[in-house]
Amino acid sequence: MKTVKVLDKKFKLSISAETIAKAVKEMAGKINNDLAGKEVIFIGILNGSFMFASDLFKLIDFDAQITFLKLASYQGTSSSGKVKRLIGINENIENKVVVILEDIVDTGVTLESIIKQLKGYEPAEIRMATLLFKPEAYQKEIKLDYVGIEIPNEFIIGYGLDYDGFARNLPEIYTLIAE
Ligand code: IMP
Ligand code: MG
Repeated sequence: MKTVKVLDKKFKLSISAETIAKAVKEMAGKINNDLAGKEVIFIGILNGSFMFASDLFKLIDFDAQITFLKLASYQGTSSSGKVKRLIGINENIENKVVVILEDIVDTGVTLESIIKQLKGYEPAEIRMATLLFKPEAYQKEIKLDYVGIEIPNEFIIGYGLDYDGFARNLPEIYTLIAE
């Protein structure tokens, strides 16, 4: 079993680079089928989605734009339930098909907040693409249009996902080992 230590915690390899690449390729194929010919702008949500967004976008075979947005950090100490403000919107997304690119959807709280804020810019349509999805943790009704890999409700790192800012550079995905 391949393991890595990040800061104080140990993780075991759970999704190989090949499995990730296959899921990204399948998703790109679906998006190419569904959205070719439309005016599409992909929006990667930083930081976690940068690697997924980059790999997916290389496989998009029609003319499309990509930009990145970030959720502002929480003000104050308590984070639960607070809506984070989306920052960095410079591009015009009005009347375009927006495809949100997320690394992972867990409870769905972040996604709901992103969609609510993007709707204010009056895009033609908003679609949601996430590399990873934790169905057991999901609390929302929002339809996920493109899901790469469903995973159990466990903490993971790698391929853009971090533990306290580290491990984003791992080319595969690792799961926290319970102690
Ligand atoms: P949600 O709002 O609960 O859906 O959480 C979404 C955000 O939490 C993601 O964009 C990630 O930044 C982070 N997150 C959720 N699960 C994990 C995980 O297992 N590892 C690392 N980050 C995670
Ligand atoms: Mg994220």
